[in-house]
Amino acid sequence: MHSFTYYTPTRIYFGKDTVDNIAEYVGKYLPENVMIVYGGGSIVRSGLLEKIEKLLSDAGIKYTEFGGARPNPTLEHAYEGIKLGIEKGVDFILAVGGGSAIDTAKGICHGIANPDTDIWDYWIGTKQVEKTLPLGCVLTIPAAGSEMSHSSVLTNMAVHSKRGLTTDLNRPLFAVMDPTLTYTLPVYQIGCGVTDIMMHTMDRYFNPLENELTDAIAEALLRTVIKFGTVAIKNSHDYEAMSELMWAGSLSHNNLTGLGGINDFAPHQLGHEITVKYDTAHGASLATIWSSWARYVYDAKPSRFARFARNVWGITETDDNKAAIMGIQATEDYFKSLGMPVCFSDVIGIKDDSVLKEMATGCSRGGTRTIGSFKVLDENDIYEIYKIANR
Ligand code: NZQ
Ligand code: ZN
Repeated sequence: MHSFTYYTPTRIYFGKDTVDNIAEYVGKYLPENVMIVYGGGSIVRSGLLEKIEKLLSDAGIKYTEFGGARPNPTLEHAYEGIKLGIEKGVDFILAVGGGSAIDTAKGICHGIANPDTDIWDYWIGTKQVEKTLPLGCVLTIPAAGSEMSHSSVLTNMAVHSKRGLTTDLNRPLFAVMDPTLTYTLPVYQIGCGVTDIMMHTMDRYFNPLENELTDAIAEALLRTVIKFGTVAIKNSHDYEAMSELMWAGSLSHNNLTGLGGINDFAPHQLGHEITVKYDTAHGASLATIWSSWARYVYDAKPSRFARFARNVWGITETDDNKAAIMGIQATEDYFKSLGMPVCFSDVIGIKDDSVLKEMATGCSRGGTRTIGSFKVLDENDIYEIYKIANR
């Protein structure tokens, strides 16, 4: 087992109606002014924003609204939030929404706490975050796992770059997880979310090491998400399904499912490049590339993919190579059943070879880095994977 540090400081308030106590959860931090960061308006339409604002007002807690985080949130939008937050004396941030609102909020927290720093310096690694503002969240979609993660992913539109920042200062103080808040989700977003939860687990599971307990947790999580994902896309009001998905989403990205291993995360890197170029939803970008990545890398260790096939999909084939391929096919078929694209023609159309080369150059940052750990991939490998997906 590889050495690890496990740190998950986020307090979880899980269950129906937990959001009713939001003033108590926020009030503990004695804020002067709370900035409510949200997305494109789903919480306005559902009435959740109005409800939270009333609960805060009734408790005498002052707030400032900042909406407009779009899926695949931008650095430029976070800058606007920082400016507003500084003007209004904001000292606590409450993100209400999914990964896009929460990741924007993380950026705003760092920016307000460090007004003399361009926060992009944190994302490209030229500066380290040393202080930030307190952050709480109310989750409305089981997907990105940002509510417990140490990551924040922003896109710098000026340089067409989608980058993640990893720091423990990204971890929210608390997350309110009321599964009923997900009932208004469109089917497509449920499919994207289920895919992302699976991918956070699989991008850790497929690594060069074997760790029995961690692997077994990952397999149980995947079986649970596969089962309840199918239920959820048929009925978004199924409380049991939404509860299981919501909790799985957090556990799949708070590092539990990768302890003792060496994260791979190559499919995420391959997917980010698709998103930067075509603004594809995050989960859909991962489904588009995963089976092509898997077919390219599985022979680095067929027994690992065979174990996945048997323990996650119940495949009984005894030959490892055959079982591995069957497990990849089962995963691809499952993504299709969620309405996800599984190759370029499903989502962005067939691309010219020059486009694939450009994406490989982008993903490898001009050939200056490799990605992955299950099989380390250079610019040429990345190009070959995009070629397989170009069908
Ligand atoms: O913006 P609104 O109007 O709220 O609508 C959102 C958005 O259109 C909608 N939605 C969310 N909750 C809803 C709802 N619609 C109706 N009812 C509800 N209850 O769903 C759409 C997607 O929301 P978004 O926040 O973008 O989803 P998700 O949680 O999948 O976040 C995706 C972002 O997170 C990043 C992704 O790259 C992407 O930018 N990630 C963040 C990670 C992290 N911080 O740890 C890790 C992930 O790997 C990922 O990269
Ligand atoms: Zn993800």
